[in-house]
Amino acid sequence: MRRKLVAGNWKMHGSLSENETLLRGVLAGMADVKAAVAVCVPFPYLHQARHLLAGGPIAWGAQNLSQHAKGAYTGEVSAAMLNDFSCRYVIVGHSERRALYGESDEVVAEKFAAALAAGLTPILCVGETLEERETGVTEQVVARQLDAVIGRSGIAALAASVLAYEPVWAIGTGRTATPQQAQDVHAFIRAKLRALDAEVADGLIIQYGGSVKAGNAAELFGQPDIDGGLIGGASLNADEFLAICRAA
Ligand code: PGA
Repeated sequence: MRRKLVAGNWKMHGSLSENETLLRGVLAGMADVKAAVAVCVPFPYLHQARHLLAGGPIAWGAQNLSQHAKGAYTGEVSAAMLNDFSCRYVIVGHSERRALYGESDEVVAEKFAAALAAGLTPILCVGETLEERETGVTEQVVARQLDAVIGRSGIAALAASVLAYEPVWAIGTGRTATPQQAQDVHAFIRAKLRALDAEVADGLIIQYGGSVKAGNAAELFGQPDIDGGLIGGASLNADEFLAICRAA
């Protein structure tokens, strides 16, 4: 049985005081949460996240990392630096990074490899744009994004990672994929991976992300191939996030 994982992606939100309120609020409600829970916070708040969360039920991580180990890369953060803050997870290939910061499939594959090499668990995001969905190439796009990573790191490497299917048109738009639309892509991903390695495919956590809320989480997470969620906006409110965690 795959355990469900709910991860908050705070994106570029928060402050020391807001984070403290949020994390203390989530911690206070964790007693009846059965799913694994994590928060992926902005780099400057990793120290605070570790301080507040160490020894408790919530893991923490980052939203991005450099594909390089060290060197003259102004503004970048390496996997080893994330390890310094005891990160467990790092989001890789989020569609905002692909679209706004020009991260190609190849760069994403390098980042994935760098995370794994450092012992971090990458949360690899894949997903199609609205135009791609409407032109019927969703599966090709997701397959291409996965193939870049599998080509670089091998199928066995996925066993140490998490996938997140995030249709770009559903992110931050309030427009969620229907449970069936999401399940269809999740099942496609799992079948594609099963053809390469059944054990890896069946054990892999595949989260759904894109306008998950307390009100739609249970139905999404009830689908056979949806193993929890990557939560943006709704992870910024303790009660809403906890309700999603309970739904998992
Ligand atoms: P959203 O973001 O929940 O705000 O749609 C999800 C994500 O981008 O990971």
